[in-house]
Amino acid sequence: MRAVQIHSFGDLDTAGLESVDVPLPAENEVVIDVAAAPVNYVDLVTMRGAYQFRPTLPYTPGKGPAGHVSAVGADVHHLKVGDRVLGMAEYGGYAEKCVVRGDQAYLLPDAVGFHEAATMSLAFDTAWMSLVDRGRLAPGDSVLVLGATGAVGGAALQLAKALGASTVLAGISKPSQFAELTPLGADDFVVQSGPDLRNSLRDRVLELTSGRGVDVVIDAIGGDAFDGAVRAVAWRGRLVIVGFAAGRIPTLKMNYPMLKNIEVSGIQISDYRKRAPDMMAKCFQSIFDLYSQGRLTAPGAKLFALEDWREALELLNSRSTRSRLILTP
Ligand SMILES: NC(=O)c1ccc[n+]([C@@H]2O[C@H](COP(=O)([O-])OP(=O)(O)OC[C@H]3O[C@@H](n4cnc5c(N)ncnc54)[C@H](OP(=O)(O)O)[C@@H]3O)[C@@H](O)[C@H]2O)c1
Repeated sequence: MRAVQIHSFGDLDTAGLESVDVPLPAENEVVIDVAAAPVNYVDLVTMRGAYQFRPTLPYTPGKGPAGHVSAVGADVHHLKVGDRVLGMAEYGGYAEKCVVRGDQAYLLPDAVGFHEAATMSLAFDTAWMSLVDRGRLAPGDSVLVLGATGAVGGAALQLAKALGASTVLAGISKPSQFAELTPLGADDFVVQSGPDLRNSLRDRVLELTSGRGVDVVIDAIGGDAFDGAVRAVAWRGRLVIVGFAAGRIPTLKMNYPMLKNIEVSGIQISDYRKRAPDMMAKCFQSIFDLYSQGRLTAPGAKLFALEDWREALELLNSRSTRSRLILTP
């Protein structure tokens, strides 16, 4: 079968689409015939050798491929050959076949196509776990999403509304971006870039919430926006750190959590897959159910043949598209 092979970190010149052995599943694994594999920014970070986990070389990049199950390990009883699944592999998606742990392969309902599943993977599960587990979102809560134009942010807007949030505020870099987010459930916006965010972001949130603040903040950007957001959390509110897209890892004066009775927590989604497979299964079940009920929409996708994997990565790196990029082996 054909698979992209990375032979050296930080050196894509030696990487290529190669012919490799067809993988066999271990007892707790399944093999997927990959129909759609998302290209994620984290793939690029891993190829550069800059991610917190380094795979053994050579390796095939690619998390979250979707396709039909083509082989099943002896200890996997909930899946059979031919089932349609999303597989949350750590690596291996940029290939015609990919091995995934059986408890990390999630059955797709008929309403969820392979491309849609691949576009939702990594972003929707991160957003769901941030809102539901870390943020303990309750019906009627108000939510602020920083980085709302991004993949995780867009998923968080939609999921917050679908899960019963009252007011959903989108953190955006320019007011002109708000119109594209209202179909995703954003009720109003907060500007997350510019000078003096520590005061301006807090003041805007308080203005939009009658001085109360927001119950849950999902923060995918960090930096100065965090400094404002932590001052805009309501009494007993929860702020969840997802990422630092703005470039600076912020620091927190611990008098804020104490004086305001708030919580600041973080999420690392791969750990949920490894340590809490049952929670991840519940998370994907909820996402697929909401999608099947028409309460979520999948992000737009640009499709690439497997041999065009470099082109997809270059487009991702240029940040010149909002579409999710999908390889279709
Ligand atoms: N913790 C986890 O398990 C986990 C899982 C998935 C992703 N992440 C992380 O979460 C972050 C977001 O991921 P994503 O997939 O949503 O990324 P994405 O689609 O590339 O979106 C990035 C978002 O950050 C905003 N942004 C970028 N630079 C900014 C700046 N200098 N100032 C203000 N806003 C800025 C962008 O807004 P504009 O471009 O519109 O300005 C956009 O909304 C990344 O850091 C990613 O590594 C973490």
